Amino acid sequence: MITGKTKIMGLIGDPVEHTISPYMHNAGFKHFNMDYVYVTFHVTKENLKFAIEGARALDVRGLNVTIPHKIEVMKYLDVIQETAWHIGAVNTIKFADEIEGYNTDGLGAVRGIQDVKSIKGSKIIILGAGGASRAISFQSLLSGAKQVLIANRTRDKALSLALDLNDYLNKDVRAIDIGEELKEELQDADILINTTPIGMYPNVDQEPLVTSDMMHEGLVVNDVIYNPLETGLLREARLAGAKTITGIKMLIYQGIESFKIWTGREPPMDVFEEALAPEIKKL
Ligand code: ATR
Repeated sequence: MITGKTKIMGLIGDPVEHTISPYMHNAGFKHFNMDYVYVTFHVTKENLKFAIEGARALDVRGLNVTIPHKIEVMKYLDVIQETAWHIGAVNTIKFADEIEGYNTDGLGAVRGIQDVKSIKGSKIIILGAGGASRAISFQSLLSGAKQVLIANRTRDKALSLALDLNDYLNKDVRAIDIGEELKEELQDADILINTTPIGMYPNVDQEPLVTSDMMHEGLVVNDVIYNPLETGLLREARLAGAKTITGIKMLIYQGIESFKIWTGREPPMDVFEEALAPEIKKL
């Protein structure tokens, strides 16, 4: 029940109507008997500054940030967590004495993968070089990956990300070409992660960048897309006998990490999973 003491949390983005995050967070608050509510705020680019100032003024305690504000919002925060600063994007804000910015996207993906395979010492290939790729590649290296290879349609973007990663972490990171080089590198890769929108609803029949003939049984394949649950890439992985991880895992774990930042408590995975189940069935 909403009371005079209920604290507000939420999501800012444009659009926000289709998000399934409120189901997770509100179930988490209920689980811990916390007097919080999680709502969505449709915020346009012109209003982003006022939204952050307004949230502070209205004593909002925490926000998630989604497309298209993850980068722009950083200007309006007081402090930014080191990883988020290196990633160059914020998806979680905590309103404390100062306005704090975090990024839980990379951690979400890494935790999803760690459920089936240890990242430590692994060779990872990431498709795409946008915001999600930046978050996941940084976090993979911080979590002990041995090598990260970035394959992107626009090679310059992959090169620039590889440079940023090398500057910060001085690890084995390279940009590779989509095509023969990708095919060759996949032969002894441990983990493949798609961060491009290829195969996302409504383009479910779009040909994935990697097909089953390029995969092997020991490979773990993760798609950050969760609609559809089984993307073209994951179908190919299943055909090749590889292990698959759907985008829902990342969504749940990034949510768990945000929830922890705001409340200091870790909601059980099954609470979030159960809250999402009816929504996932509709996908
Ligand atoms: P996000 O923030 O979700 O990562 P993004 O920053 O728009 O989204 O990045 C999307 C990535 O998917 C980009 O690397 C993009 O490649 P380009 O750098 O060449 O634009 C990649 N991408 C999008 N559509 C693609 C397609 N049809 N084929 C190959 N790569 C694609």
